[in-house]
Amino acid sequence: MARRVAVVGAGSSGLACIKVCVDEGLEPVCFESSHDIGGLWRFKESPEPERANIYRSLVVNTSKEMMCFSDFPAPADYPNYMHNSQLLQYFRLYAEHFDLLRYINFQTTVKAVTQRPDFSVSGQWNVVTINRDGEEESHVFDAVLVCSGHFVHPALPLSHLPGHETFSGKCFHSWEYKDADALRGKRVVVVGIGNSGGDIAVEISRSAEKTFLSMRDGAWLISRMSIQGLPLDMSSITRFNNILMHLLPRNLVSWAIEGSLNQKWDHRLYGLQPRHRVLGGRILINDELPGQLLKGALALRPNLRAFKDSGVVFEDGTVEDNIDAVIFCTGYIESFPFLRPDLFAGKHRELTLYKRLFPPSLSQSTLAIMGLFQTKGPIMPVVEMQARWAVKVFTGLSCLPSEKQMQEVIESDMKRNMKRSDIIVTLLSVDYIPYLDFMAKEVGVQPNLLRLLLTDPVLWVKVLFGPCTPYQYRLTGPGRWAGARQAILSQWDRVAQPLRTRAVPEPESRPSFFPSSYLLIFGGTAIFGCKLGPFNASVCRRRLN
Ligand SMILES: Cc1cc2nc3c(=O)[nH]c(=O)nc-3n(C[C@H](O)[C@H](O)[C@H](O)COP(=O)(O)OP(=O)(O)OC[C@H]3O[C@@H](n4cnc5c(N)ncnc54)[C@H](O)[C@@H]3O)c2cc1C
Ligand SMILES: *[C@@H]1O[C@H](CO)[C@@H](O)[C@H](O)[C@H]1NC(C)=O
Ligand SMILES: *[C@@H]1O[C@H](CO)[C@@H](O)[C@H](O)[C@H]1NC(C)=O
Repeated sequence: MARRVAVVGAGSSGLACIKVCVDEGLEPVCFESSHDIGGLWRFKESPEPERANIYRSLVVNTSKEMMCFSDFPAPADYPNYMHNSQLLQYFRLYAEHFDLLRYINFQTTVKAVTQRPDFSVSGQWNVVTINRDGEEESHVFDAVLVCSGHFVHPALPLSHLPGHETFSGKCFHSWEYKDADALRGKRVVVVGIGNSGGDIAVEISRSAEKTFLSMRDGAWLISRMSIQGLPLDMSSITRFNNILMHLLPRNLVSWAIEGSLNQKWDHRLYGLQPRHRVLGGRILINDELPGQLLKGALALRPNLRAFKDSGVVFEDGTVEDNIDAVIFCTGYIESFPFLRPDLFAGKHRELTLYKRLFPPSLSQSTLAIMGLFQTKGPIMPVVEMQARWAVKVFTGLSCLPSEKQMQEVIESDMKRNMKRSDIIVTLLSVDYIPYLDFMAKEVGVQPNLLRLLLTDPVLWVKVLFGPCTPYQYRLTGPGRWAGARQAILSQWDRVAQPLRTRAVPEPESRPSFFPSSYLLIFGGTAIFGCKLGPFNASVCRRRLN
């Protein structure tokens, strides 16, 4: 009999998990508390409690070729940076194509996931659910994949802010923010310079009287577009860049990237300059913030210290009166109400996961927490790979080290992250390609570059110097997809396709839009769109000729 796996949640992570279970001959049973798939990416007109909520205008910050699932490229005509409704549509296409809906029990909430009495032998779990009629049901599963999302419970720092009880304006979290309609002509403070804070402040500043963006620390500001207007992640996330990053001193790379970012926008002049180095902390992806600052519609301010009647006080002592609304874009608190807290025993609580996936304390590794990490790249392909690895572990085809060894790895990963950065959020961070490659090796799907060079040099060039698109993990091994090679060869065509809406006469002798020699130059010169000393574009070009 096929082993049964409970999948908690049918957002993008849940869908990937269902697909992977089916591929590996397991029987997935997915429980989704809402009536539909998509999770975070299903826009809701009013925020639903216990669920992630997004704003109407949200556009992804990772490009379609990089963020798609590894055996299902986004339609060629989709824009490179999709609106949330288009991304949801992509997930619908994915679910339809692989016939995933039949495994999902909608309007069924998982209430408790506990180990069975014979867990140490069977590795089985009891899963208690509540269906739409309020009836409780108990199920037994061989394994559990937790895909319930991490942007559900808003972190609202009001208790640290004196005077909030008597503040006359409105005060709410970005979780409740839909659009700027109600803020037209108002004076608004947005707190926090994460991606949401940046987006929301820019949007409000277009129609408000004045918008202030208050932040604890600055941020390195990065655009979605790289050189030639190409998607940033496609030119920066390459295997070649990854090798360079490991060969070159970290400070040198940071220095080079920061230099190129300051070329675009002088971070000091704009008041954006953060304390941390660009590789050591979070980055802000935003294309419009500097424009709004330049127009004076938006002004940066230090952290909020207190409320005062109808105004706010910032940490430098400055006061802004007559504030109509304060919006906290201060992130979320991770929580898994259906899991026993002692599952995350250890010094770092929820952070205690082996390779950001497995609670190390379990005597049988039959439970995995999906997506609880941060990375400077798209989440979906990483979660898909996590699922592929988790399922290998469930079926015994891949083995985890002993609990002690896992704890040691967790400690050393944690130490490395702390050394790299002083901001706490980055404790969750993983390096994009190294993390994917680590899991790919466990699954047996890591592309072999040497063999590729000897057998398929054209593909080798694309894999090494081109963007590390998810298709690379479908070239060989279990779960191989026959379309993977072609998907890699045609990836730049799908980038160009949505832009080809007006015919432009082809020049006679110029190279075509995306020749592979350009890819080579990108690979060498663009880490987040910057040029690195020794990889001078004109030198590369000469070598190629
Ligand atoms: C504003 C914002 C922008 C983002 N932009 C990007 C981006 O551009 N690129 C990117 O890669 N990532 C982005 N992310 C990260 C994003 O969270 C992940 O990419 C991904 O969508 C998370 O999917 P998920 O399935 O893990 O969680 P969710 O999408 O939150 O789905 C969780 C699902 O589980 C269900 N559920 C929860 N609890 C239970 C329960 N007890 N029982 C049953 N069902 C339950 C929920 O109803 C929901 O459907 C963004 C996040 C935010 C907040
Ligand atoms: C995209 O935005 C989300 C939400 O703010 C963030 O968690 C993620 O890290 C961002 N992605 C990148 C590559 O910066
Ligand atoms: C790149 O190399 C060319 C030729 O060697 C040289 O003329 C040019 O100055 C170099 N550019 C940079 C930015 O180093």
